[in-house]
Amino acid sequence: MSERFLPPRGTSDIYDEDERRFRFVTDAAMHAARCACFQTLHTPVFESARVFARGLGEASDIVHKEMYLFEDRGGEPLTLRPEFTAGVARAFIAGGFHQKLPVKFFSTGPLFRYERPQKGRRRQFHQINYECYGYMKPESDADMILLASDILSSLRLQGSIAVEINTLGDSDSRFRYKQELISYLLDYKNDLSEDSRRRLESNPLRILDSKNEGDKLIVADAPELYDSLSQKSVEFFARVRECLDTAGLVYAVNPKLVRGLDYYNDTVFEFTTDGLGAQNTILAGGRYDGLTQLAGGPVVPAVGFAAGIERLAALLTDIPEDVPPVLAVSIGDAALPYLSRIIRELRAAGIPVDHAGEGNPKKQFKLADKRRASFVIIAGDDEIAAATVKIKNMTAGIEEIHTLPRARKVLADAYSV
Ligand code: HAM
Repeated sequence: MSERFLPPRGTSDIYDEDERRFRFVTDAAMHAARCACFQTLHTPVFESARVFARGLGEASDIVHKEMYLFEDRGGEPLTLRPEFTAGVARAFIAGGFHQKLPVKFFSTGPLFRYERPQKGRRRQFHQINYECYGYMKPESDADMILLASDILSSLRLQGSIAVEINTLGDSDSRFRYKQELISYLLDYKNDLSEDSRRRLESNPLRILDSKNEGDKLIVADAPELYDSLSQKSVEFFARVRECLDTAGLVYAVNPKLVRGLDYYNDTVFEFTTDGLGAQNTILAGGRYDGLTQLAGGPVVPAVGFAAGIERLAALLTDIPEDVPPVLAVSIGDAALPYLSRIIRELRAAGIPVDHAGEGNPKKQFKLADKRRASFVIIAGDDEIAAATVKIKNMTAGIEEIHTLPRARKVLADAYSV
């Protein structure tokens, strides 16, 4: 027997109901993006590895251990994109968008992280991603959190969703806080988990959201970032909260929410669900005013978020079935070109229609049943001679003969096209 290939570990083929779920999420996301005046931006699936190393931070989990790195045949060091934000910032600068501010980008597509696969955690996954450039006011952060909340509400997901927000302050506040945190944690160095010990020098803030029980106990009494914030950052965060309160959004402030990527400042947020198990974050984002500069451009204030399509798709409750098709049954091969012409005309009118397979009429009707066709159009020698077609309404079980223009009208009316 010849070798059978399965999709690589942590990836999957998406079809049937999974594909319908997936499409439901992307359609809703694109609709929301259009309504909020985002333009769609497609960036390459692979980029120079430096695009992400600089933006996300060498010490972030993604850069440190999750990027798919390779050299192309010309020796160019490349990476499969692990997220959108840094690639979008690269495209923003390359496209000269700092001359056209403000600008909002929506992106969707596959992303790649070499993580340990488990339920809700894939090596190839997909996101819907929203980024806004040229918005410096706290009201914009609140607007984005509310947009995220509205998109999730429109999907009518199962389970309940919790919203957590926090502020990381500006870079000076964070620098001061990091020193304080390191000096506190050094007293417990030997009790920290191995991961956290490694992060002590490189990425101490991440220790705050460690899942390790021992780390959690140590972190419980750590100094709070909030106490190191500049007046400006405190006021900024207060205004974000005020806007969310005015809008009536229910959220919690979680001082330990730090996010795993270096580019954030001030507001960060996460939406979690109780319906997914361990991988329960469905949407996350924040403000990142320094990223364009890290990517070699001017400083441009920005805020954005992304949600994992697979995680959202898994939480959908009622996904609509695809519109049932019209299938064409030919009585004898002579009718095939005749039906092909009719099929092309119906497709051009926006009606989903196809041949009912290649077997005899009985087999073709069987396929029509299996595909839950709403109508079957039937043609043989008699119909060709009279320039007509039979239409069988599969729900009512009624069969009628129509001229071709009449048949087109009947089906167009049935499909409201
Ligand atoms: P992130 O938290 O790394 O943020 O990912 C955002 C969302 O993508 C997660 O909440 C989750 O739903 C989904 N996700 C992440 N990794 C996986 C995985 N391995 N398998 C399945 N789903 C996954 C970012 O990517 C930032 N770029 C978000 C952002 C946009 N910040 C500002 N703008």
